[in-house]
Amino acid sequence: MPVILFFSINFGNSTNLHIYRFHIIQLMSYQQLEIERNESVLLIKINRPKALNALNNLFFDEMNDVLSKEASEPDVKVILLIGLGKAFVAGADIAEMVNMDQEEGAAFSKKGQDTFNRIENFPIPIIAAINGFALGGGLELAMSCDFRIASKLAKFGQPEVNLGLIPGYAGTQRLSRLTNMGTALYLLLTAEMIGAEEALQIGLVQKLTEPEALLDEALRLARLIVDKGPNAIRKVKAVTRQGAELSFVDGCKLETNEFASLFGNEGKIGMTAFLNKEKPNWNQNN
Ligand code: CAA
Repeated sequence: MPVILFFSINFGNSTNLHIYRFHIIQLMSYQQLEIERNESVLLIKINRPKALNALNNLFFDEMNDVLSKEASEPDVKVILLIGLGKAFVAGADIAEMVNMDQEEGAAFSKKGQDTFNRIENFPIPIIAAINGFALGGGLELAMSCDFRIASKLAKFGQPEVNLGLIPGYAGTQRLSRLTNMGTALYLLLTAEMIGAEEALQIGLVQKLTEPEALLDEALRLARLIVDKGPNAIRKVKAVTRQGAELSFVDGCKLETNEFASLFGNEGKIGMTAFLNKEKPNWNQNN
């Protein structure tokens, strides 16, 4: 039975608290994550605002737990990732990293990369809703999601070289693939923090909203996905992601196979519903 929960989020640098009203089921509170459900949408809220949601070992353990449990429930169709407070995530936890030796640094990098690869390859879409700072490991986390929507007050950057470091969660790899080599090297070499409009221009984010509208808009987009053929959604993510690693010809073969696989069931339901001017009932064969 859904309970109605009122909650408020302080977006970006805004002092403006906005009260949202959704039918939310609060599932679980971890130490650094709050897990909630809005129908088939799972909300993962990063909740360590005093440290601007900086990512430490515990974060990765909890995130992996959520991916294995709440996020893998069969009726979860889309995941939204957001940060509480004035940051999405301001990077890997510098206070935790400062005492690491090389071996521990390697393990910390591998743990982050493995978790973000898991997010990238997760069978259902994961959307980053970026409320404030997305820096270093925070931008790397956002880049592992399928697309990014951001508050107009959000700020982006890869400031690792300020610390005498380089990105460790695949930022050197994903940034150039998402934007282009020149843009990636500009951000990585200068450590310049850019605003949301510039992030939109360079393709780092796909959509901007007013700060107080971010969660509403993220939920609206998530619900658009929820209404679609569930197998089609999983396949479109998998084929698009896997195809990027293949030659064009092999990617097209993969597409043909998966396109054809939908003709037996879900595609029939969707196309028949269209021709009958009805809303498709994706569960009708279950
Ligand atoms: N790790 C640990 N703590 C952090 C943090 C981080 N990445 N970012 C911010 N914090 C902490 C601050 O130390 C501060 O803690 P105290 O209140 O205990 O002093 C608290 O969060 C609030 O931060 P500020 O007072 O600095 O807030 P501000 O509004 O003045 O500045 C900011 C905001 C510009 C984001 C600034 O906090 C900042 O520059 N943070 C670091 C950003 C950064 O360098 N990120 C890259 C980390 S390295 C990395 O991510 C490596 C990788 O790829 C794996």
